[in-house]
Amino acid sequence: MTLRDAYTEARLLLKEKNIADADFSARYLLAHVIGKDLSALPLLWEIPLTTPQKKRFFRYVRKRCTGVPLAYLVGYTDFYGRRFVVRPGVLIPRPDTEHLLYAIEELQHNFAHILDIGTGSGILAISLGFLFPHAVIEACDISLWALCLAHHNAQRLKKKIRFHWCDFLTHPPDGVYDLIVSNPPYISPFEMDLIEPSVLRYEPKKALFGGTDGLCFYRAIANYSTEHLSPTGKILVEVDHKWRDVEAIFSQKGMQCSLRYDYQHYPRVLIAEKKL
Ligand SMILES: C[S@@+](CC[C@H](N)C(=O)[O-])C[C@H]1O[C@@H](n2cnc3c(N)ncnc32)[C@H](O)[C@@H]1O
Repeated sequence: MTLRDAYTEARLLLKEKNIADADFSARYLLAHVIGKDLSALPLLWEIPLTTPQKKRFFRYVRKRCTGVPLAYLVGYTDFYGRRFVVRPGVLIPRPDTEHLLYAIEELQHNFAHILDIGTGSGILAISLGFLFPHAVIEACDISLWALCLAHHNAQRLKKKIRFHWCDFLTHPPDGVYDLIVSNPPYISPFEMDLIEPSVLRYEPKKALFGGTDGLCFYRAIANYSTEHLSPTGKILVEVDHKWRDVEAIFSQKGMQCSLRYDYQHYPRVLIAEKKL
């Protein structure tokens, strides 16, 4: 069976099961199984798959047919130009979250003490380690499983991060930071219908839901900032369509806010800082 045959058959199987990105999934899994980049596939269509490769490929395809996310199948995802290990039980990093880092780069400021709240697989803390090699970087999460993965990613990418296993809402870290970043859980139970079924089925609920209105982490971060953000420090949080509420939360704490937009010109990052 050539790569082309395997791809054609897999795409059909995935389409039959209504997998939205059937074509991409088939290509992605094929490239993964043969250990090549997606871009190399067109040059390799007529090459035969070995029997173990074929077995492995169709095992992945069958799982993908049940809706298992690609990143959980292959065990990694790319974020901000680096490969991060991803495991079930920890949120799959989204490209949207890269906008937090673009916004931080734009600030052109050298941060020395950084906190990442709800670090998950560690993508933000570790990427910040590359942007600010001399900074002391701390990261916290309530999930020990997530912290183990973040620690593993930090070791692989040779970045030193101080990890805290804590519930940020009740026992937040005790430092004073000049940069606080977070992609917190921000979905409210009323927004369940907006979430893809496979996200609800496979990704950890703790990483998704932010209390009854989806805003509890923003309130906690705003309260926390009164004592734990340095006078000239900045907070950058990922936001969704509830950004006006988030802005109000930080403004009520006497902070000034600005927004950064994603590629669809949608508010994606809120920057808050103390008024001097
Ligand atoms: C939306 S995910 C973000 C993960 C990662 N920063 C990213 O962008 O991919 C939110 C993270 O917050 C963590 N979390 C949820 N509740 C928490 C709490 N009370 N204290 C600390 N972390 C919490 C979850 O375990 C999850 O890893």
